[in-house]
Amino acid sequence: MGNMEEMQKRLEEAYRLIKEILEDAKVLLNFSERDIQILKLRKEFLKTWADEIVDEFYDTLLKNEKARRIIEENNIPIEKLKRTNKRWYEMIVSGEVDEAFFRYSFYVGLVHIYYDVDNHLMIFMADVLRRKFLQLCLENFEEGEAFEVYQAFSKIVAAFVGFTVEGYIFTLKKALFDILGMKPELVKRMLKMELEKMLRGFKELGVKGQ
Ligand code: HEM
Repeated sequence: MGNMEEMQKRLEEAYRLIKEILEDAKVLLNFSERDIQILKLRKEFLKTWADEIVDEFYDTLLKNEKARRIIEENNIPIEKLKRTNKRWYEMIVSGEVDEAFFRYSFYVGLVHIYYDVDNHLMIFMADVLRRKFLQLCLENFEEGEAFEVYQAFSKIVAAFVGFTVEGYIFTLKKALFDILGMKPELVKRMLKMELEKMLRGFKELGVKGQ
């Protein structure tokens, strides 16, 4: 198979995964077009929060030594990070939340995996983002509206976190197959075997209070 063809096949698999995650978001988060519209309706106002949100994001992130090391070792200017993060935020609140946005968000997740950013850092920073957004909602809207706007934003951020976590596993499985020829079913079986050991270890030695 040619390189392009193989790349296309990979992308299609990733697109299927994106779809699957979004289907779960529809059912479990009640995510719908309405959320996108809730944000879009207020886009000019929500966009004015971008700098404050992004500043809070990086002030917090840079307190973490691992994050600082990744950024420094790769010579990434904070201004560049702020710019791209701001753009991503603006896409969300402007209602530019379509297939292309989700694909881009999946790609953004992969960028972080590439830079070795731990998943828990992504999860925590998503929380920082959401909390700052919630604070601004509470300061600027009456309670019902604040809750509605916050929820809409929160669901999209949650989908992004889902992409990043699943993107990690997706990529790992692809690499194990490409480099070692390990089929996904084999990886799953291996993982199960390891988990049985871990669970037994925890039960017998590490978990109290049962
Ligand atoms: C909710 C969490 C996060 C969001 C929404 C976010 C957002 C983004 C966005 C939109 C980009 C640009 C990707 C592109 O278009 O190329 C990016 C790049 C990047 N982010 Fe994050 N980020 C998050 C967490 C983190 C964390 C925890 C780190 C830890 C060090 C980090 C480090 C980086 C790095 C190193 C890049 C690549 C920059 C480059 O190559 O120019 N990010 N991020």
